[in-house]
Amino acid sequence: MKFFIDTANLNEIKEAHGLGVLDGVTTNPSLMAKEGIKGADNIRAHYKAICQIVDNNVSAEVIATDYDNILKEGRELAKIDDKIVVKVPMIKDGVKAIKRFSSDGIRTNCTLVFSPGQAILAAKAGASYVSPFIGRLDDIAQDGLELISQLRVIYDNYNFKTEILAASIRHTIHLIKCAEIGADVATCPLKVITDLLNHPLTDAGLAKFLADHKKVNG
Ligand code: G3P
Repeated sequence: MKFFIDTANLNEIKEAHGLGVLDGVTTNPSLMAKEGIKGADNIRAHYKAICQIVDNNVSAEVIATDYDNILKEGRELAKIDDKIVVKVPMIKDGVKAIKRFSSDGIRTNCTLVFSPGQAILAAKAGASYVSPFIGRLDDIAQDGLELISQLRVIYDNYNFKTEILAASIRHTIHLIKCAEIGADVATCPLKVITDLLNHPLTDAGLAKFLADHKKVNG
């Protein structure tokens, strides 16, 4: 399972990369705004800075919502670095643009996916990744993890090459369940990744090991 970090914060990306387990980064316009990144030049520079930290897979989202401008913006984003994956919303013009990007060899991440039907369209259009939002489905009392299970079955039925990128992950249970189901990728905040480290028996066991060592060695 690949781990992506869902943030535009450079320090968090560096920290996750430093752990040695990071496979990529996902951003979105809200995450970029949270970091105060504004203006085309600054946005480009920020994506470039992210690409300099990680080895691959930096999702950069288009703002345009019509076919021609999604293509124009996506091509500009793709030119920033080979690591860029153009993130495109699940709308009619987005699906058309994903198909075109796919034909042109530009990798895409189809975002804001909330149903199996949307995910089938993304796969048929040739998206490299599909991003079902688990947490936001849970927020409206639907089962986000059930969607991941459905997509795994559907994609395997037809050997779709699109990778299931579980997004809107809020806690470690989401992440672990996604791994059990077989999501290809999980993107989550830094805290969810570092929370995977924690177990009270690890802390207690280490304290005892060190105390026993100290008794004998001083
Ligand atoms: O980047 C997309 C997704 O992961 C957003 O998550 O927590 O804002 O629903 P969240």
